Amino acid sequence: MPKKKFIHFTLLLAFIFGASACKKNFPAPPYETNKSMVSDSAMVVSAHPLASAAGVDILKKGGNAIDATIAVQFALAVVYPRAGNIGGGGFLVYRSNTGQTAALDYREKAPGKADRDMYLDEQGNVIENMSTLGHWAVGVPGTVAGMFAAHEKYGKLPMEALLAPAIALAKNGFGITEQEASRLNEFQEAFQKVNDTPNAFIRPEWKAGDLLVQPQLAKTFERISDLGMAGFYEGETAQKIVEEIQSGNGFVSLQDLKDYRAIWRNPIIATYKNYKIISMPPPSSGGIALVQLLKMIEPYPIELMGFQSREAIHLMAEAERRVYSDRSKHLGDMDYYEVPMEQLLDSFYLAGRMSDFSMDSATISSVVNAGNFNLLKESFETTHTSIIDQEGNATSVTTTLNSNFGSKVVVDGAGFFLNNEMDDFSIKPGVPNQFGLLGAEANAIQPGKRMLSSMTPTIFEKNGKLFMVVGAPGGSTIITAVFQTFVNVAEFHMPLYQAIEARRFHHQWLPDEILIEEGTLTDQQKSDLAALGHQFREVKYMAIVKAIQVLDNGRLQGCGDPRNPDDAAKGY
Ligand code: DON
Repeated sequence: MPKKKFIHFTLLLAFIFGASACKKNFPAPPYETNKSMVSDSAMVVSAHPLASAAGVDILKKGGNAIDATIAVQFALAVVYPRAGNIGGGGFLVYRSNTGQTAALDYREKAPGKADRDMYLDEQGNVIENMSTLGHWAVGVPGTVAGMFAAHEKYGKLPMEALLAPAIALAKNGFGITEQEASRLNEFQEAFQKVNDTPNAFIRPEWKAGDLLVQPQLAKTFERISDLGMAGFYEGETAQKIVEEIQSGNGFVSLQDLKDYRAIWRNPIIATYKNYKIISMPPPSSGGIALVQLLKMIEPYPIELMGFQSREAIHLMAEAERRVYSDRSKHLGDMDYYEVPMEQLLDSFYLAGRMSDFSMDSATISSVVNAGNFNLLKESFETTHTSIIDQEGNATSVTTTLNSNFGSKVVVDGAGFFLNNEMDDFSIKPGVPNQFGLLGAEANAIQPGKRMLSSMTPTIFEKNGKLFMVVGAPGGSTIITAVFQTFVNVAEFHMPLYQAIEARRFHHQWLPDEILIEEGTLTDQQKSDLAALGHQFREVKYMAIVKAIQVLDNGRLQGCGDPRNPDDAAKGY
């Protein structure tokens, strides 16, 4: 893997960028960042104020929720490079104002040269970092194909108009936020390790307000604007991607890029009391797992148990334990593995799964593998956007590079980060991935297969009407965050912001413990739950929810998450 360092170049670039930053003719912080906002017509909630603004501008120009989604996705690739992307993939769940639903899969795929043991050494041991850092970790990117598929089916404004905000932000630059500066600083060493040419992100030190200009990325967007999908998957951009991949002995080929297609899938649809759940099917585990969780708790009087009561936490954690164990065994890309979907969602099956649940004690997770679990070893990033347009159409979109800045590889000459999504496969049965998730045959690597995801972009109806658009980044904790946010609103009657802000807990079967965000439980609550047999581990925070709720008066309540200072709700 290339390791040369171009410090001199970098210093020169830093000087040039630093000097131009003084001109201040670019958007700069402090940005207007509403964490919670009520509007009459339309709402965009994303991970960055400039991306939310790009979405609202498109809506005001007559674009619909899909147009705004595309503009936000491309804008995030510029202003939120750690997770916003064109070098990654994602999922989009859609509900039109007439109740028509759709789910778009633009998840990355394993390259044609992939094989199930590609990350193992000759002794069959996992080679450290190979599926997470550098060129080997990259799956075939799906984002650009996804945006074109969405546009082809539902878009109103021309694609050029939707790319324009991203092009302007990349070309003219923008002032980075404090949070972005700290993330860029945190990963400098990794950037230098896997990139042997200078790029816009390498700099000795970033500070809030520094100008980030991405001329190569602007050119890439211009090629996409001029040539459509071929501006990314063929010709100059494809060539640059493959040259980059080959410089680090990676696997993605020109043919892989040319063959990539996004796929429309049937959304997971189910009911919970008087709510309808519309969510993402495999290759995401999110929709199935969310429905399983809700169906498992449905027979119990959770409202009476009360928010974060001993009974409610115990019940929800026990449901989570069972669902994540199903996930590890049964879920994978349906195009390659027969996922027993009907059975997993069947009410009798789910009741059976809870038949050994006792209010008086924790169930012990069976020890499948005595692994060395590395749950949440890296601060994690993906990004979610929730949108409702002025006509009542809604999109719930989660997109990712997997880790922060993905593989950390920037395509030389094209200016964007490539994902490290290959780590979402089960690279060896019984060996956990970076989120501590286990997998087996269903999620083994095969050429062309999509890796299993936890992303859970979801739309809820209540009594047949649009009720909530919700989703989150957060690796394995995404599913439980969406679950708990919904339960907080629907069962504990919390206002949306409070429901998002509330501390969360998470059980994923193995390791056999409840992860809790700092400050979630009092000592008394912990000892009450410990008496049932639960163990705890505290983490700073887990997933970062972005949601919109249609209030009883028809107005739109948009909320970001206080866990991400840059989350921004913007509506009108
Ligand atoms: O698809 C998945 O489940 C993961 N690649 C998501 C990663 C993630 O959410 C990271 N951070 N927030």
